[in-house]
Amino acid sequence: MSREREKILIRNASQVVTCSGFAAKKGTEMSDVGIIEDGAVVIENGIITQVGTTEEVLKQLDINDYLEIDARGRAVLPGFVDSHTHFVFGGYREEEFSWRMKGDSYMSIMERGGGIVSTMQATRRIRYDHLYDMAYDRLDTMMDMGVTTVEGKSGYGLDLSTELIQLRLMNELNEEHPVDVIPTFMGAHAVPPEFKGRTDEYIDYIIETVLPSIRSEHCAVFCDVFCEQGVFSIEQSERLLKAARSYRLKLKLHADEIVSLGGAELAVKMKAVSADHLLHVSDAGIKRLAQSNTIATLLPLTAFSLGEPYAPARKMIDAGCAVALASDFNPGSCFSCSVPLLFSLACIQMKMSPEEALTALTINGAAAVGRANKIGSIDVGKKADMILLQFPSYKFLPYHVGMNIVGTVIKDGMLYIV
Ligand code: NIG
Ligand code: FE
Repeated sequence: MSREREKILIRNASQVVTCSGFAAKKGTEMSDVGIIEDGAVVIENGIITQVGTTEEVLKQLDINDYLEIDARGRAVLPGFVDSHTHFVFGGYREEEFSWRMKGDSYMSIMERGGGIVSTMQATRRIRYDHLYDMAYDRLDTMMDMGVTTVEGKSGYGLDLSTELIQLRLMNELNEEHPVDVIPTFMGAHAVPPEFKGRTDEYIDYIIETVLPSIRSEHCAVFCDVFCEQGVFSIEQSERLLKAARSYRLKLKLHADEIVSLGGAELAVKMKAVSADHLLHVSDAGIKRLAQSNTIATLLPLTAFSLGEPYAPARKMIDAGCAVALASDFNPGSCFSCSVPLLFSLACIQMKMSPEEALTALTINGAAAVGRANKIGSIDVGKKADMILLQFPSYKFLPYHVGMNIVGTVIKDGMLYIV
């Protein structure tokens, strides 16, 4: 990737797809992506200052001051927001993948002491600079696919010091890598071996020992919990989330991923910003989500990687939910952050329209990280986080299956050629 200067005029774009909005889009609103044909966008100091047709914008601009990008034959879109990842981890779990292909299940591997705890062991052992370099490279990979904001979870430390290391690392990356990184504390990702069989005591430990340090360092924005049968129950999750809320963290939940436990309902009750996974969400859960401001974040790459049924995206959107899409990139259930594949799975397997999928990865992704007022759409005043495709329409995203068609990324008004 190479980088160029800041005051930019993009003109003659075959389409500027604004995804305009300052809050999540729900239900039928998700189809409204806002297309400007022969579009132009002006960027100054990293902020979008004008959006319109090329003719309109050129009328009121002294083009000599600007780096001009002729976007003929190309579509201009907001940068993607990957609102659910676990990208900071040591080690890999390729053996587990082979076991699963032979019929082992994700949960049975976890019960045998593999799974998240195996990545915890590798993450506790790894040198900081190695962990940092790998995470940095992963952000590069995501940015090449058009991602300009990433949420990242801790949860591979499962003790105070290693959880803090993961969170500090994400804060450092937020400063040092062009992609914006939003750190989420997920100490309740699994029960570590030193608390085996004492899940309630582990929750006490998080509440009494870990959360106060996170609060005093201000190193996390969200708190998330793996609310799942055999991991953290509804009651344990609620107790933890209430404590997290009292420490001013915003809330997220891994909800109804493996069984229908009522995680979606708990997310709504706790006013969580998002409920994620939802492969086995109940009809009652869908109804509650539709009536709430909680975003339903769907992760089709995980369902695909685990060979599980997809979340009922169609049913949720038709019921009026605000749906976001994210990768869930992690070394276990989903070792992929592929935006191209994510798009195609959302459309081909979950029957989302290309417009709904685009909304889900832009403005609704932004809402899922509490930033819909700053990113997620091409609106005047928002951050200049944008992408230029190699094709004239956003419709090529799911259609060109599994292919990266992002040609240029603009992050905070800086130009990066992929
Ligand atoms: O979202 N389900 C829990 N957490 C991750 C998996 C993490 C791992 O297996 O390392 C998920 O799928
Ligand atoms: Fe996850």
